[in-house]
Amino acid sequence: MIPPKPKPRADRVSLWRYMRLFRQDILSAQPARLYRAWMAEFKTPFFSSFMVNEPALLDVVLKERPDDFPKSDRIGEGLRPLLGDSVFLTNGETWKRQRRIIDPAFEGGRLRDTFPAMLAAAEAACARMGSGEVEVEEAMSHAAADVIFRTLFSIPIEHEVAAQVFTQFRDYQRTQPILNLAAFLPLPRFLPRGHRRRTRETAKAIRGLITRLTAERMAEIEAGTAPDDLATKIMTTADPLTGQTFSTAEMVDQVAIFFLAGHETSASALAWTLYLMALYPEWQDRVAEEAQALENPDFSVMSRLKLSRDVFREALRLYPPVPMMVREAACPERFRDRDVPKGAQIVLSPWHLHRHERLWDNPDGFDPNRWQTENGRRCMREAYMPFSTGPRVCTGAGFAMVEGPLLLSMLLKRYRFERIEGKDPVPVAFLTVRAKDGIHLSVTPRQEA
Ligand code: HEM
Repeated sequence: MIPPKPKPRADRVSLWRYMRLFRQDILSAQPARLYRAWMAEFKTPFFSSFMVNEPALLDVVLKERPDDFPKSDRIGEGLRPLLGDSVFLTNGETWKRQRRIIDPAFEGGRLRDTFPAMLAAAEAACARMGSGEVEVEEAMSHAAADVIFRTLFSIPIEHEVAAQVFTQFRDYQRTQPILNLAAFLPLPRFLPRGHRRRTRETAKAIRGLITRLTAERMAEIEAGTAPDDLATKIMTTADPLTGQTFSTAEMVDQVAIFFLAGHETSASALAWTLYLMALYPEWQDRVAEEAQALENPDFSVMSRLKLSRDVFREALRLYPPVPMMVREAACPERFRDRDVPKGAQIVLSPWHLHRHERLWDNPDGFDPNRWQTENGRRCMREAYMPFSTGPRVCTGAGFAMVEGPLLLSMLLKRYRFERIEGKDPVPVAFLTVRAKDGIHLSVTPRQEA
């Protein structure tokens, strides 16, 4: 059985129909030929954009000349009220300075330090899981938000402010469901006015709450009583070039993106992984058996959760939480003998790249063993980028690759997840790749051996 894949649209449709499809979901708005193309141009009367799927071109855009392909401002249009000048939206010198301050907090050694907080969140998620029918997207959102609060601010999701931020974020997503749409069509004119007002109001409420957490932390740092977590680490790290640290206001922008980028994505990945485990029970049993290694674990247990990691990796291939990314050509380019004008939108699509028929063996199949094959290893280097790649790679990639396999193993050790007939999820791309009506699974506690 092949895991669910959205039905592509017909090769030729009118612009009007294309826009309608886009409003529903960016994935089914695309034609099947994108799974075979190296590059595709979308021409409309208003703008041109190019989807790039060829590994060598992806290298040019993301690794070799990233400064010539900055983030498009269109992305920011919808997100700026929430994210301000966060590292996700900035370009040039501002972005470089922000990464110099943020990156050390996510390096290998620090990941080891965050492990106990992640483990505590995983235990809490197991305790909450219960049994019977569970909508696991919601459950994993809760778990991933808990991981972020515990690792960043040393507070669990039950903390009053944390719980409020979590709820407000959920509302925010309902008012602003389509992140990447902006790359193809100018977003604000597209959304009804009332929508935009609500988005702004929710964004303001979230920022108010985050400002409270950040200002309190600044005071604790000054008083010498701050816990040693990611927030303290980031707020006390000076830029090695200028010696400056983040002000409270700058940190608020960064905290907003850590929540948004850090919990929605991991939640989507974990929910799809659990569904895949329900679809392939033999893999589920193998991961559950491997999870026996989790008796009183410390960070070193991660090197023993190999199957769990391969399964999580495969889920990120089939359902990359960030399905598409967008850059803008800062100067005229020539790609594959075609002129790419200055200002053109360059769409990079992990979704299509990860299922590219000319690159992957069995592109739509679920096969965690592929990472041990030559094709899988080559594709991992050239055609796999759930976290993007190059200098602008996700800051949380290492973090997510600990969090994901750890939560997966902890959950499978305790519970069995099964499909519910007639409720298989259909992937759609909103802010992240989600299931149209949630992911409903039947959960039973495993017998203690
Ligand atoms: C499975 C989980 C995750 C996935 C699949 C993921 C994916 C991505 C991708 C594809 C980008 C690049 C977007 C673009 O260039 O347009 C990105 C950027 C980013 N991610 Fe993640 N992410 C995950 C988890 C996290 C976590 C846990 C954090 C932080 C705690 C995080 C923080 C960020 C930040 C700050 C950026 C912006 C980096 C920059 O532009 O310089 N992400 N992520």
